Amino acid sequence: MKKVLALLLALAFVACQSSKEIVVDETGRGLIAEKAMVVSAHPLASEVGKEIMQKGGNAVDAAIAVQFALAVVYPGAGNIGGGGFMMTRMADGSIDALDYREKAPLAGGRNMYIGENGEVIPQSSTRGHLAAGVPGSVAGFEAAYKKYGSLPWADLVQPAIDLAANGWALTEKEAGKLNSNRTNFIKYNTINPDFFLKENEDEKWQAGEIVKTPEMAATLSRIRDNGRDGFYKGETARLIVEEMKRGGGIISLQDLEEYEAVWRKPITGTYRGYDFISMPPPSSGGIALAQLLQSVEPYDLGSFGFHSEKSVHLIVEAERRVYADRATHLGDPDFFDVPRNGLLDKKYQSDRMKNFDPLKASKSAEIRAGAPAPKESEETTHLSVVDPKGNAVSVTTTLNGGMGSKVFVGGAGFLLNNEMDDFSVKPGTPNMYGLVGGEANSIQPGKRMLSSMTPSIVSKDGKLFMVVGTPGGSTIITSVFQTIINVIDYDMGMQEAVSAPRFHHQWLPDVVMFERDAIDSTDARWASLTEMGHNLIKRGTIGRVDAILVLPDGRLEGGADHRGDDAAAGY
Ligand code: DON
Repeated sequence: MKKVLALLLALAFVACQSSKEIVVDETGRGLIAEKAMVVSAHPLASEVGKEIMQKGGNAVDAAIAVQFALAVVYPGAGNIGGGGFMMTRMADGSIDALDYREKAPLAGGRNMYIGENGEVIPQSSTRGHLAAGVPGSVAGFEAAYKKYGSLPWADLVQPAIDLAANGWALTEKEAGKLNSNRTNFIKYNTINPDFFLKENEDEKWQAGEIVKTPEMAATLSRIRDNGRDGFYKGETARLIVEEMKRGGGIISLQDLEEYEAVWRKPITGTYRGYDFISMPPPSSGGIALAQLLQSVEPYDLGSFGFHSEKSVHLIVEAERRVYADRATHLGDPDFFDVPRNGLLDKKYQSDRMKNFDPLKASKSAEIRAGAPAPKESEETTHLSVVDPKGNAVSVTTTLNGGMGSKVFVGGAGFLLNNEMDDFSVKPGTPNMYGLVGGEANSIQPGKRMLSSMTPSIVSKDGKLFMVVGTPGGSTIITSVFQTIINVIDYDMGMQEAVSAPRFHHQWLPDVVMFERDAIDSTDARWASLTEMGHNLIKRGTIGRVDAILVLPDGRLEGGADHRGDDAAAGY
């Protein structure tokens, strides 16, 4: 198995020559650093984070600066017009969870995407001005800074301003995304968005081309000078509201002024002697990750073998049950009583797995959400940071779909999210990730939409062990889960665990999705899983995990996902 993985890694390396920071040697290890590391979706952003720490900044400073930089060089998901979650674990063991998820505008409501025929208006929650939730990112960065930041605020924003003003080179993937979104940009924008459109339709963006975004540089300068007020008040707020008015959107000045990031109590749990922390609601990620780990813990996954029929079957059956719970029990805790403790109870998980048949797939149609004890009175990107003192930050942030709502704020140079589609826009109607939901995740003014983002940190015996997370919509939870078990149960290194192929089941639709290089349909395992009753399909890549592992000697190993341009930087 190790040999096969080493070969896959070698192939991935050849395919990723442009991402020079992904170091894969014959042992399959990723980039190794002595002191500090950042792994993010873009090499330039990872470099920004590294430089912040070399200047004496801590992991939170670095995470903030990396997010500002990603908003420039990785505009399809890095953002100031979206939202996210930040998990922190300081060197002294203290933990925190920051929620800067978007909110439904005050003028929004349960039936805002339902047409006269009672059906969801196609693409109304995914594209255009009405798809955008009230952005939370800048409020989140400031809240994190106020509590943990150490360098001057301006130092954290300036690298992004420099990138926007002086320009950066497009990677091949980024050039392709801009070219394929041209029609959308024209259709959904009211005025020409900054640099993003080539004047001539026949002209294509090329890898290596230098681009500049002066409007974004100006917006970021307002944020550098005025903190969150540079976004939620004054010129930027005025530009957002004018954009809304031109395009039929409903985000108001009041929505912007009232937006607050919220510190929440992290989800904590144990797995085979390791401790983990992850994001609580309004993300489903932390609770679902805990449920998945608890569901498989009684079984010796390691001896079952990586991607053996026995492992895949067990994991799929756990995922099926956990995603059924997600659809019913999880939503914004400020609006819905989430049965957090009931869902996190190990006994509850063992009850849910009681009808697990090791030889036969269950049918999702026959698996319903469980009944946990009631409450006593979720395009995205992830970054992982560890600083020289051992402080760790795990951030997942999103515009939702690639390029969000496709709407740029005219004159301000940034994209708005289409996060409203993460609500259950109509009970039982699948969202863009095929997820269904009900009352817990219905739209209400000011409510946060349920997320799957799962920024997580694992420790052992009180010491930092792993920082992990990924984008991928509904597949986020299963990708984080599988990366953790790849290391703990299947004995992989960090880069190996990140590069290893993945699969996913989310209760509905009742299919197991395999990455193309995971299990081939001519493989005996494919036939035997089908025989058990699983519906297997192949799909493109699942997730883009960026993670850091603390090695036994204290050095750091980066796992940067070859599925994207992701890169580790460290020193
Ligand atoms: O919060 C969520 O769960 C989604 N908006 C995440 C979207 C995502 O990961 C898309 N990236 N590939």
